[in-house]
Amino acid sequence: MMARETLTMRELRRLDVTQARRILDTSEYVHYRFAPDELERLIELYPGVGAFSGAQGPLGRMMGGSLQAFMQVNELTPPCAWIGGFGVTWSQSERYRDYLDLLLPPLADALWARDVRSLYYSGADYESDWLREPLEELGFSLISMLRSYDKSDFSVPSEGNQSIVVRPFEPADAEPLAELERLCFDDLWRHDARAFREAARLYPYFVVAEDQQGIVGYQFNIVDMKIGYLVRIATHPRAWGAGVGARLMTEAVRYFQREGAWKIVLNTEEKNTRAHRLYEWFGFYLTRPRGFALGLPLTAPGAPSQTASG
Ligand SMILES: CC(C)(COP(=O)(O)OP(=O)(O)OC[C@H]1O[C@@H](n2cnc3c(N)ncnc32)[C@H](O)[C@@H]1OP(=O)(O)O)[C@@H](O)C(=O)NCCC(=O)NCCS
Repeated sequence: MMARETLTMRELRRLDVTQARRILDTSEYVHYRFAPDELERLIELYPGVGAFSGAQGPLGRMMGGSLQAFMQVNELTPPCAWIGGFGVTWSQSERYRDYLDLLLPPLADALWARDVRSLYYSGADYESDWLREPLEELGFSLISMLRSYDKSDFSVPSEGNQSIVVRPFEPADAEPLAELERLCFDDLWRHDARAFREAARLYPYFVVAEDQQGIVGYQFNIVDMKIGYLVRIATHPRAWGAGVGARLMTEAVRYFQREGAWKIVLNTEEKNTRAHRLYEWFGFYLTRPRGFALGLPLTAPGAPSQTASG
């Protein structure tokens, strides 16, 4: 049992970055879906909560206590947000379930205040993810299975639609892209204009496709350790089947080739057969493990908790 009364739960602040980074760097009980260098910006942008020990007394309160565990959001487009990171110090690692239990309610309250009504978690391996079962015990349930695809060459089966213009993203595109997004994705996967501007900062390749009627698609990527990550592609439904996706894929493959990637990887939902057809046509093959997404409906602060343990 954990002595909860000796712990203080509070939202993470900038001054907590060093301690949170230390957990990421030194503990094996960590899950994070962001580059560690991004942590400071994430803490500034999105809710995150920490469990601090030794925060009693004037000095403890001033120093903020010693961070034992934290949970941080890395994507937030109301009404949805995603757990981007969770970590427990090495010495507290056996109690990670207790810390999940402690951190989730204050995080949920902070998210509710930002108009979030559902919280999501995605893991890379359904069979062996160490957080899946404890999160399910706290009320999360399976929303979607994910597929992973790889491609190991730069061949393209078609150049795609040549009548459209593909150009770099500009900040003024953010609002029209958010409109397109509503037509293309369920709300948990959706970006709003702010998220698109953030994506432009994070992803070095971000292009927009235009036809005579305006924006008809977009696509963004990153290369890390010589692996090309095809992060996102979408085409306006008015142009589905007209080769816009193929054109965006062709441009992406060329980008990865220029950057010297040795393979290209992507994830998509198990049920997104339209996207599967495009990827498989472009020479992507299915790989293991199978990723997944869990979701939790949030309740108003003070209302009876929907979490299984609450
Ligand atoms: C998936 C998506 C990007 C495809 O875009 P698109 O512009 O319709 O794609 P294209 O027209 O260039 O090509 C797709 C077509 O290639 C076709 N294709 C596959 N193999 C082919 C072949 N051997 N020869 C010719 N065409 C082939 C596919 O059949 C598909 O057409 P269909 O679905 O009408 O059968 C689009 O449907 C979309 O934006 N969906 C919503 C967002 C999304 O799911 N994004 C991906 C997940 S991140």
